[in-house]
Amino acid sequence: MNIDIQAVPPAQRGHCPKELGFGGIFSDHMFSQSYDDGQWHSATIKAFHHLSLHPAAAVLHYSQEIFEGLKAYRRPDGGINLFRPRQNIQRFNRSATRMVMPPVDEQLHLEAIKELVKLDQQWVPKEPGASYYLRPAMIATTPKLGLGAASSYLHFIIGGPVGPYFTTGFDPVSVYVSDQNRRAVKGGVGEAKTGGNYAASLLVGEAVAAKGYNQVLWLDAIEGRYIEEVGAMNICFAFKDGRIKTPALSGSILAGVTRDSILQLAPTLGYEVEEAKLDIDEVLGQIASGEITEVFGCGTAAVISPVGKLCYKEREYVVNNNTAGPVAKQLYDTLTAIQYGRSEDPFGWIEVV
Ligand code: PLP
Ligand code: COI
Repeated sequence: MNIDIQAVPPAQRGHCPKELGFGGIFSDHMFSQSYDDGQWHSATIKAFHHLSLHPAAAVLHYSQEIFEGLKAYRRPDGGINLFRPRQNIQRFNRSATRMVMPPVDEQLHLEAIKELVKLDQQWVPKEPGASYYLRPAMIATTPKLGLGAASSYLHFIIGGPVGPYFTTGFDPVSVYVSDQNRRAVKGGVGEAKTGGNYAASLLVGEAVAAKGYNQVLWLDAIEGRYIEEVGAMNICFAFKDGRIKTPALSGSILAGVTRDSILQLAPTLGYEVEEAKLDIDEVLGQIASGEITEVFGCGTAAVISPVGKLCYKEREYVVNNNTAGPVAKQLYDTLTAIQYGRSEDPFGWIEVV
């Protein structure tokens, strides 16, 4: 299927501001295609626009929705890299299957991303640490108040320039371990990238923000004991003997692309990586004893974010004197050098636009 490209005249296009923040600025164009009568049609890139939906559209009532997040990076030679876009597309289709939505054609989705980034290339920032964040999404559009899968869908991709996700930049963030509330349960939709998981996390997110913590660290919903992930990122623990551990994919955790990249990258830097069931009490004991020397989150938006403080049951545990440690720094530097094209990509992760 071809994409109909309706470019905005250059004179009417906006420009990339200096102050970026995260997720509030959008570029000139967007991609969309519709699904009706069992097929995708009308693949178009045109001017960024608001959507018009029937008030009974299924997404507005029953949250039949999925999304993705990936970034385009400006290389030193002025070109643009995408980081592991095929992994995101595959996860998008896995999420679609879980939410009873029609899969999209992988090749078309990738082509749409490339064409959108090419058209809006002046929005891909040149500043260090900044990038262009792409947000593919799919929503159920059938007007339908009876509960059941919709028959019509809208698949769209928007994007815009972003700076660091956390205002702290590479300074450590703090996390609060949720004692009572749970994010997702095995057998549920925790490993799908669907909006409801994020809506469900807001109550605790707001409560911990009021206590001065940046993110919630979620425990498993069955025993309330095993570490799962943080609100917007997966989590890793670095040990003083050179091991890096991250929770094993449990069925309720998002299989992060950054997490997978760290699992491949870290051994090449001399670390031993392990995916394991991590008991919160044991981990906090290892932080207190100094056996765990660093904690860091990882995700597309968050990149690698050191964690300087964890609070659990009103007790606070400080990691590495609440400063960014050398393991997180080395992984951040090595990963971002590949993403921005400052170093070779031995993994085949980069897709040039
Ligand atoms: N976990 C959650 C809940 C997320 O929202 C994200 C962000 O996408 C991640 C983990 C990290 O995934 P990725 O590295 O693919 O961005
Ligand atoms: C991402 O990192 O791409 C995400 O989707 C996380 C989101 C909360 C910004």
